[in-house]
Amino acid sequence: MRAADMFNLSDRVALVTGASSGLGVRFAEVLAANGARVVLVARRAQRLAEVKGRIEGAGGTVIAVEADVTDRAAMKRTFDEAERAFGPVTVLVNNAGVAHTHRAIDLPESEWRRVLDTNLDAVFFWSQEAARRMMAAKARGAIVNIASILGYGVSKGVLAYAVAKAGVVQLTRALALEWSFKGVRVNAIAPGWFETEINKDYLQSDHGRQMVREIPIGRFGKDGDLDGALLLLSSEAGAFITGSTLVADGGQMLALRGD
Ligand SMILES: NC(=O)c1ccc[n+]([C@@H]2O[C@H](COP(=O)([O-])OP(=O)(O)OC[C@H]3O[C@@H](n4cnc5c(N)ncnc54)[C@H](OP(=O)(O)O)[C@@H]3O)[C@@H](O)[C@H]2O)c1
Repeated sequence: MRAADMFNLSDRVALVTGASSGLGVRFAEVLAANGARVVLVARRAQRLAEVKGRIEGAGGTVIAVEADVTDRAAMKRTFDEAERAFGPVTVLVNNAGVAHTHRAIDLPESEWRRVLDTNLDAVFFWSQEAARRMMAAKARGAIVNIASILGYGVSKGVLAYAVAKAGVVQLTRALALEWSFKGVRVNAIAPGWFETEINKDYLQSDHGRQMVREIPIGRFGKDGDLDGALLLLSSEAGAFITGSTLVADGGQMLALRGD
C-alpha cells in the first residue's frame, strides 16, 4: 500500500466545525487537499466565505454553512445541507471551541455553561447526529474530536475548559466502544499550544514566553503540526484505531505546570 493511497480521502465528505479561524481552517484545507469534499461550519459567515474561497482557489470542493454548534436545529440543518451538496458526512471533525480565563472562585455560571455547551455538549450531539446518519447510510465513518493537553493536566484559570476537554477524552472512548462495530471510528487529538485567536494574548504574555521554554521540542505548535494526526485518524490509514486520543504537543505534557 502506498502512503498516498492510505491517506486518500477522495470518497469522503468531511465536516469541520470551527472552520472560520485557527486550527479548523488548516484542518479543512488539509482534508480538501487530500481529496475530501469539505463542509465548513462556524458562526462568522464572512470568515467562512474567505476560507471557502481559498480552498476553492487551491482546487478543493467545499461549502460553508453558518451555524452555532450549540444550536441543535442549526446542527440538523447543517447535516441536511451537507447531504444535499455531497451526500452523507463520513468524516466529522469536532473542532469548534471557546476558552475562558476565570479562576474557579470567580467563574460565573454563564461562563461555565458557555464553555461546557460548546466544548463538550456540542461534541456529543454533533457526534450523535453524524453517527446516526453514517449508520443509516451504512457508511464507514470517522469522528475526530479536538481535545487538549488540558484534558489531562490542569493550569490555573482554565477550570471549565480543562473539565470539558477531559470530558472529550472520555467521550471519545465511550463512543468508540459503542459505535466502532457499526463502522464508525471515534478518536481525538489533544494538541499542545498553538497560537490562535483563542489564546494569542496569553501565549504572548510573559507567562507564555516562559512556558515555551518548558516544551521539549522548544516551540509552540505551528501550521502543519497536526496534519499527520488528522489524516491518520480520518483516513483508512487509521482503520484499526478507535477510542484513542493522540497527543500532539511537542512533549509539553511531560512537563505541564499547574500555574
Ligand atoms: N490553539 C491551541 O493552543 C489549542 C490547543 C489545544 C486545543 N485547542 C482546541 O482547538 C480547537 C480550535 O481552537 P483554535 O485554537 O483554532 O481557536 P480559534 O482560532 O479561536 O477557533 C475557534 C473556532 O471555533 C468556532 N466556534 C466557537 N464557538 C462556536 C460556536 N458556538 N458555534 C460554531 N463555531 C464556534 C469559531 O468560529 P466562530 O467564532 O466564527 O463561530 C472558530 O472558528 C478548540 O476546540 C480548542 O479548544 C486549541
